[in-house]
Amino acid sequence: MIELAGITKTFQGKQGAIHALKNVSLSVKKGEIYGVIGYSGAGKSTLIRCVNLLEKPDAGSVKVKNVDLTKLSTNNLRKARGDIGMIFQGFNLLKTATVYDNVALPLKLTGLSKKEVEERVDKYLKIVGLEQKHGAYPSELSGGQKQRVAIARALSHEPEILLSDEATSALDPDTTEAILDLLLKINKELGITILLITHEMNVIQRICDRVAVMENGEVIEEGKTKDIFTAPKHSTTRKFVNSLFSHKIPADILANLNETGQVATLSFFGESSGEPALAMVSKKFDIYPNILSGSITQLKNESFGQLVVHFKGEPSDIQKAIKYLENDQVKVEGVNINDANTRVS
Ligand SMILES: Nc1ncnc2c1ncn2[C@@H]1O[C@H](COP(=O)(O)OP(=O)(O)OP(=O)(O)O)[C@@H](O)[C@H]1O
Ligand SMILES: [Mg+2]
Repeated sequence: MIELAGITKTFQGKQGAIHALKNVSLSVKKGEIYGVIGYSGAGKSTLIRCVNLLEKPDAGSVKVKNVDLTKLSTNNLRKARGDIGMIFQGFNLLKTATVYDNVALPLKLTGLSKKEVEERVDKYLKIVGLEQKHGAYPSELSGGQKQRVAIARALSHEPEILLSDEATSALDPDTTEAILDLLLKINKELGITILLITHEMNVIQRICDRVAVMENGEVIEEGKTKDIFTAPKHSTTRKFVNSLFSHKIPADILANLNETGQVATLSFFGESSGEPALAMVSKKFDIYPNILSGSITQLKNESFGQLVVHFKGEPSDIQKAIKYLENDQVKVEGVNINDANTRVS
């Protein structure tokens, strides 16, 4: 659906050239929710703005539905942009227009009849849950409601792709959850492909099928959300993942851990919960698993759990138990007890 290949963008700043994007390539499939995560200044906004050519790359191709937008005439580019909606952190609403008009005014410019405009505005304000707010002004809305208006405005053009630049960054956690649920609904029910950028790992965790991690204008790691969560490779990716799963074990518990045994992190997906598996190994083998820390997290399509466990027992029995767990689809990673108080992931 979206294919970026070899995108390069350099800005001339006061202090010299800023290489905002260096040979970035990524592809987003139809119907997918694809996330790009990175720290401030990584080049995320520049990248997403290249997708609809709000920013023109110095080199590379931007294919949307197999058409290279960089090669289109102004007129054809305008048409192609009709397939791409966009939402922002700052909502970008017209302050002096009502909710209804914020959605209706841009639609009127597209040449739709009055009736068609009314139908579209009604339909999309209903989808975002604002049918009661037609006459309200932006100043009378909460941040989450403002973002809903912006989403309705983007959807009212019936795009196939929605670009989201930090759409939830200005919102509190509960409102963020509600907006993420709305994005999931739009993706599922309207089949809209979503490319979003964020600096928050919980956004990736909740709704993205795949994710790219950006740093200094480059994609440093890319893959399915599930794989990035279970086996992050790059140190920056690890930092993002650890921002969600940081299993710090209290020092007094660590001090009491028996010298013998092994501490390990167990990761498991979906229905298989770690606890029955642990009960099973303690029954089957001569070991005593002691849970030190744990969490279960909902990813877009499945749940993902992590337990930090101290196995007490003879090394050979522990190895057998670990083999058994691995055969039961549990990923097991050994942890050095001396490191456990600083970071276990
Ligand atoms: N129009 C511009 N002129 C000059 N430099 C720019 C321009 N736009 C972006 N940059 C620079 O390019 C780099 C990447 O910026 P970009 O806005 O893409 O980062 P970002 O990952 O979106 O960051 P944030 O999370 O803070 O929004 C930064 O160093 C920024 O200062
Ligand atoms: Mg940005």
